[in-house]
Amino acid sequence: MPAFDLETYVARSGALDLSAIAWADVPRYALPPEAVRTLRYMQDVESHTIVYLRALLATRAIDDPEVATFLACWLYEETFHGLALDRFLAAAGHPVGPRPRPHGREPLSQRLEAGATAMLSRAWPDFCAVHMTWGAINELTTLTGYRRLVTVARHPVLSDLLERIMLDESRHFFFYYRQAEIRLQRPGAARVARLLVDRFWGPVGTGVQPREELCFLAHYLFSGEEGRAAARKVDETIRRLPGFATVRLLEAWMDRFVTNGIGVNGGRHGHRNH
Ligand SMILES: [Fe+2]
Ligand SMILES: [Fe+2]
Repeated sequence: MPAFDLETYVARSGALDLSAIAWADVPRYALPPEAVRTLRYMQDVESHTIVYLRALLATRAIDDPEVATFLACWLYEETFHGLALDRFLAAAGHPVGPRPRPHGREPLSQRLEAGATAMLSRAWPDFCAVHMTWGAINELTTLTGYRRLVTVARHPVLSDLLERIMLDESRHFFFYYRQAEIRLQRPGAARVARLLVDRFWGPVGTGVQPREELCFLAHYLFSGEEGRAAARKVDETIRRLPGFATVRLLEAWMDRFVTNGIGVNGGRHGHRNH
């Protein structure tokens, strides 16, 4: 993969241009209820970005000036994705409204996670490799999820909005992936990164959103032949990273939680808070 040009990225980084969207046309087209439910999930994940970053701010990831510069722009862009999806849902007659999750005080599981992240990063200088790998997987999954939503929801204004968001997501993916590619060349870093991904990875929003919502979304976007192919492509791309040739990600997760139907209605698995 070619080098990531951080200077160009920073110069172009900015808030999504919401004035370019035909908001008044949103109610003119049908929006499937499945798409509404999926968008609510995605909106929550996008606006959760700042909480995720708070855990990372205590880590060595920020010692790297390039990563720090990227993260500042990244957070800004993700925040506007959340706002854009919020506005779309309101325009479609499904306003998000206040969320039950308290934003002032984090749930204990998240505070523990933040503590573990900080501890791990102090103990191990290669933490940034894990962070970049994790970021690459999540950005690619998000990008692919939006692309699938365009195809299955078939709402012209939503498609236009998602195409614009996807431009940001693909740049995010490119940064993380390129960083991961470089940092995983150290065999020690690759080994630990792989171990942590194998042990802890779940699709974006795992642990923050109810499991049944995640399963619903995964079924809506990634089942069927085309959905499966999209999930497989995510996995194949990540397998090209050093040390990740045999990693099992989205497709394996689908096999475990969605395809057999157990997870789709909430089912037996319940919520897994990391
Ligand atoms: Fe985003
Ligand atoms: Fe992103």
